[in-house]
Amino acid sequence: MHLDHIATDNEQEFILASADIMQSILESALAEDGEAILGLSGGSTPKPIYEELGNRELEWENIKLFLVDDRYIAADSSDSNQKLVRETLLAHAQIPESNVVFPDTSLPIEACIAQYATDLQKLWSNKLPDLLTLGLGEDGHIASLFPPVGADALGDEHLVLHTTTDQFAVHDRMTVSLNAIAAAQNHLLLLKGEGKKAVWDEMQHSNDDVSRWPMKRVLETGAVTLVTYW
Ligand code: 6PG
Repeated sequence: MHLDHIATDNEQEFILASADIMQSILESALAEDGEAILGLSGGSTPKPIYEELGNRELEWENIKLFLVDDRYIAADSSDSNQKLVRETLLAHAQIPESNVVFPDTSLPIEACIAQYATDLQKLWSNKLPDLLTLGLGEDGHIASLFPPVGADALGDEHLVLHTTTDQFAVHDRMTVSLNAIAAAQNHLLLLKGEGKKAVWDEMQHSNDDVSRWPMKRVLETGAVTLVTYW
C-alpha cells in the first residue's frame, strides 16, 4: 500500500491542493495517452474543488468524465450528482457533451443501471480511468457502497449496482462496484472535518474487512492520495 497524505491547514489550501493533484494526474494522462478519463464522486466536500479544477487550463476536449455513483433522481434535482458536477466543473471546463457519461435516470432504475454499465464498459474499453475522487461517509461508505457491503458489490459480476440507503439523501442509488473503483489508476480521497478524521482513525484501527470498510480495498491498490483538512 502506498498512501500519500497531504494535510492542509485551511479550506482554501485544501481546495487548491486537491485541484493541483487532479490537474497534474490529468496532465500526465493526457501527455501519455492523448486522453484522460476522470470519475467523480458526489457529496458536499468536493464541490469547491470541482469548481476550482474547472477553471484550470487543461485540454478539456480530450478529457472524458463519468460519475462513480449517483442518486436515482431527476438529473436537475438538487440531490443529483450530475447536477452538482454540471454546476461546478462543467460550468467552466469545456468538456464536450459527447465525453460526458452520466446515468440516464429518466429510465426505470434497472434499465438505467444496465445502460450505465454498458456505457462505462465502452468508455473503459481502451484504458481504465486515470483518476477517481472518493469521499468517506461517517458510517464508512464510499461511493454508494454502504456497509455492510454485500457480496454482489464485492465481486466482479456487476460493474454498476443498485444500492439503497435510509440514512442519506435519496434512497435508491447506483454505484460502480468496488473492484471497478479499485481498478482505477489513481484515487484521490477528499476528507474534511473532525467527523471524517474520527471515521478514518476508526478504520485504521479496525480489523474488520472490506465489507465493513470498502475503502480498505482502495487503499490496497497503490496510487492513493489522501488530502485532509481536519
Ligand atoms: C455521494 C458520494 C458519497 C460521498 C460521501 C462523502 O454521492 O454522496 O459519492 O460517497 O463521497 O458521502 O460525502 P460528503 O463530502 O458530503 O461528506
